[in-house]
Amino acid sequence: MDALELLSQRRSSRAAELTEPGPEGAVLQRILEVAIRVPDHGKLGPWRLLVLQGADRAWAGARLADRFRALNPDASDALVTLEAERFLRAPVVVAVVHRPILSEKIPAWEQQLSAGAVCQNLLLAAHALGFAGQWLTGWSAYDGPFLEALGFAPEDRLAGWIYLGTPEREPTPRARPALEEVLLTLPKGKGDSGSR
Ligand SMILES: Cc1cc2nc3c(=O)[nH]c(=O)nc-3n(C[C@H](O)[C@H](O)[C@H](O)COP(=O)(O)O)c2cc1C
Repeated sequence: MDALELLSQRRSSRAAELTEPGPEGAVLQRILEVAIRVPDHGKLGPWRLLVLQGADRAWAGARLADRFRALNPDASDALVTLEAERFLRAPVVVAVVHRPILSEKIPAWEQQLSAGAVCQNLLLAAHALGFAGQWLTGWSAYDGPFLEALGFAPEDRLAGWIYLGTPEREPTPRARPALEEVLLTLPKGKGDSGSR
């Protein structure tokens, strides 16, 4: 697909509308390789990926449901089931975590931005190969005990759950800000000569 077309037409599909087939095998491998090919100040590699496919999604969902019940002892069974089935909405869910690297040179913010770029690359690579995705967070992204139950390090921060699959239908267009709304101009003419 033409690169500009890819960038200008990519849309997220709702996780619940991502169905089989999902990317797998060499195709998934390619998507993941492209995903980590991001700007990364200092070559620190401050990110890790965990791929949830097949039964792993239910295993992670069971951990999520356990945690949800511990936090909400009065929750209905229906709500607990919702958490247990959360990762089953799409064939593949990739957890992208930011793993901070102690550095005197590279600020934490820059490392976090690099992890965000991994998430976006995942969506773009999947889209280029005919799949769709959605970048989600939710309470689970901020729950330390749950993330540790999945094997992440205590210092890891979840940048996104990237749900991937085949879209059930074309997503509707989404309103976007006009370029003029986000373009800023320099505050010239307020006491300075404005030009040389
Ligand atoms: C860091 C991050 C977290 C997000 N978390 C959620 C979320 O938890 N739930 C949700 O409905 N959308 C969430 N979104 C928004 C969707 O991923 C997506 O951006 C939105 O549906 C518009 O999609 P599109 O512009 O890619 O078409 C999140 C986006 C980002 C960047």
